[in-house]
Amino acid sequence: VEIRLEDYTPPDFLIDTVDLTFDLSPSQTHVRSQMKIHRNGVHDRALVLNGEHMTLLSVQVDGRALTENQYVLTETTLTIFDVPDQAHVVIENRIDPASNTALEGLYQSAGNFCTQCEPEGFRRITYFIDRPDVLSRYTVTLIAEADLYPILLSNGNPVAAEKCVDGKHMARWVDPHPKPSYLFALVAGNLTRITDEFVTQSGKTVELGIYVEAHNADRCDHAMASLKHAMRWDEQVYGREYDLDVFNIVAVDDFNMGAMENKGLNVFNSRYVLAKPDTATDGDYAGIESVVAHEYFHNWSGNRVTCRDWFQLSLKEGFTVFRDQEFSADMGSRAVKRIADVNLLRQVQFAEDAGPQAHPVQPKAYREINNFYTSTVYNKGAEVVRMLRNLLGADTFRQGTDLYFDRFDGQAVTIEDFVSCMAEVSDLDLAEFRQWYDVAGTPKLLVRDEYLEGQYILNIDQMVPESAKGHPYMLPFGFALFDEAGQPVLLDGKAEHILIVEQLSQSWTFSIEKNHADLLVPSLNRGFTAPVEVQYDYSDEALGVLSRADTDAFNRWDAFQRRIQRCLLGRIRMAMDVGSVGEDALPEDLSKAFGQLLLEAAQDPMFVAECIALPSENYLADQFDHDTPVEWIHHERARLRQQLAAEWESTLQLIYQSHDQDGVYRFESRAAGQRQLRRQVLSYLCSLKRSAWTQLAKEQFERADNMTESFNALVALNVSDSAEFEHVLTAFEARWRHDPLVMDKWFALQAQRSDENALARVQGLMEHPTFSIKNPNRVRALIGSFARINPLRFHDSSGSGYQWLADRIIELDAMNPQIAARMASVFNTWKRFDGNRAALMRAALKKIHDRPDCSADLAEITGKALGH
Ligand code: ARG
Ligand code: ZN
Repeated sequence: VEIRLEDYTPPDFLIDTVDLTFDLSPSQTHVRSQMKIHRNGVHDRALVLNGEHMTLLSVQVDGRALTENQYVLTETTLTIFDVPDQAHVVIENRIDPASNTALEGLYQSAGNFCTQCEPEGFRRITYFIDRPDVLSRYTVTLIAEADLYPILLSNGNPVAAEKCVDGKHMARWVDPHPKPSYLFALVAGNLTRITDEFVTQSGKTVELGIYVEAHNADRCDHAMASLKHAMRWDEQVYGREYDLDVFNIVAVDDFNMGAMENKGLNVFNSRYVLAKPDTATDGDYAGIESVVAHEYFHNWSGNRVTCRDWFQLSLKEGFTVFRDQEFSADMGSRAVKRIADVNLLRQVQFAEDAGPQAHPVQPKAYREINNFYTSTVYNKGAEVVRMLRNLLGADTFRQGTDLYFDRFDGQAVTIEDFVSCMAEVSDLDLAEFRQWYDVAGTPKLLVRDEYLEGQYILNIDQMVPESAKGHPYMLPFGFALFDEAGQPVLLDGKAEHILIVEQLSQSWTFSIEKNHADLLVPSLNRGFTAPVEVQYDYSDEALGVLSRADTDAFNRWDAFQRRIQRCLLGRIRMAMDVGSVGEDALPEDLSKAFGQLLLEAAQDPMFVAECIALPSENYLADQFDHDTPVEWIHHERARLRQQLAAEWESTLQLIYQSHDQDGVYRFESRAAGQRQLRRQVLSYLCSLKRSAWTQLAKEQFERADNMTESFNALVALNVSDSAEFEHVLTAFEARWRHDPLVMDKWFALQAQRSDENALARVQGLMEHPTFSIKNPNRVRALIGSFARINPLRFHDSSGSGYQWLADRIIELDAMNPQIAARMASVFNTWKRFDGNRAALMRAALKKIHDRPDCSADLAEITGKALGH
């Protein structure tokens, strides 16, 4: 069934309080729920509760047990007739956490109990009105065997704990803040607690706890530090203070997503908690910092003010991603963070928006809401909030968020409510801005300019997606002008403007100071102020000016990337025409710009590392709308890397050596930048396949005292294609085989190897003792990496990759439909391949789709991909 936004109606009943008692045991957990409910509207309506995958034991209304003719039970609902306007409902049911492989509701991970309720998992725990606009006060009592499950946690504050008879113990938690069921959580297990505290700006002490398996106790420092930074930042930047006596984080190994913001009890995928220098890379450290902050920030943007329905998902996710992006920018390098975020947006969200799963930031209909935790809702949603910030300015935006938190505290609201606050505090008419939430697709801006006697004229035409029906977008557009020498040219006396674009065709006239007879180079959409594609007819020379001299670091990076992309796409198209890899020399301007960037390595290593990273094969593939030439993309990209390496070999070597660090590993901006630069540089060198550089990489691996440097060496050795690679892989495995999170790196790297053995190797690795198809992290590392980041071998023209993946997806669907559905999205692009591949991909999709027992999650994705 399809759920539509326009069909929203308020709930018939509200649940004021719920008192839950869990008697936990792996395959027979007993749940007792006592609810105080009241009617919220129309008389005579029956009380309909959601409930799935469980056994109903008894129902009572106002103290009377119901007989079977007083309610109706289906696979998904419990309907109770003749309920008074105010009632006390008591339900008892039984669930089976041990056989819950979908990882939704109450399940077990490493023998411990944990929950995941967002979006609709609570209905697998007990019968309830499982929708986000029903806010209730929760009391939770946990009972479990004391020796197996010494730790008993739930939302809110702990109020009681005692020993019971027969070796059990109990704990009771009360959450004073009304919340929707998706924010419920419980954890019971044998866990170690890492403790710290935080004093809020008003002087309240909050007890912080991170719970992990005992052997991971030494890997929590970074997550704890990140949490404290996030708590302080939200006070300073948004004026938001924490509101309970305790804040707990639990790390679990089996988790479908990244983490979950349950009130006062965040549950995390262990990969976003656990880190120490010898097991985690800089990338892992950065991921932990941002996810810990993201979940913490939800305490206000999501929990205190929540969503009316799931069409409003971006209300909390887009806003919270924007908040975590800005937090990370403040913790590290702002420019580099922006580059990373835009890179992700372009690679994932733009692709999603151009394919069969395209949907607005506020979707209008869905079959399975789990399929809408997407890059569009999260990342494009964050860009839309960023545009509001840029349109209003930081101070007015803060007034807007203050108003929003204040006005809607304790309520379940809509995206419209958020935008209205922004309109109210500013003098902007945001009616047209709404289109960003309502229309799928990436708008294109066609930019032209003209210079006439002291005047500079800028023209912007919008090409809007079809569903915008010719309506223009409203967006902020950062703009500046440079001359040939890279000097800023003042426009109406100012070096930089933020234009408000709001018409289909618009032009601006600026007076410019002196006469510029020569080249004038516009810097467009500076800082990526709007999530659009900008088309402007840059000469190679103009891109050279920007990549050398633009005062906006993001646009410097972008200009150089555009230059590289132009070179690569030209070469790839030529290879397609000719039927073989090209032999043309490295373009001189590109080589020069590359060399110039290398000169800046000492100044800003991380920025230079980002600049010289070549666009991914997938991103290049996205630039083709038919006959995507996977082989030529791969080979031409490799050839350009080799040419650049050969040309700049000695400089690269020098950079590699001068950024070697002594002293202990620290996750800190400059040091991480140096490591990232060494990674890039070493990979360039290793692409030359010379034993000197292979040796260098091998030495790095052997000497490294941290995972970043040792894994980067592995990456470079993979590029070098040398026999050393196998040895080092074996050494890595021998050291880490008992550490699944580390082994994920090992699985992922091998899944990306581009040699002809790739698929067979992946098949072999599925038998590895550390691999398990039940664990989402393992699946993403091995199966996901092969399907997503090994285009050359996944798209093998025999169709072997497609068929193999289809069978894995079918296997996964029986256990974990959410993960199966995520994997299936690699087939979205089938129409962009040649006839043979397209037919094979389509056949794989059909095989997955045309099964009577295909899950709703998976069927929605494959159905859309097939064009149903
Ligand atoms: N709200 C969580 C976050 O953004 C994501 C949980 C989504 N879970 C799911 N099964 N769809 O941090
Ligand atoms: Zn979130």
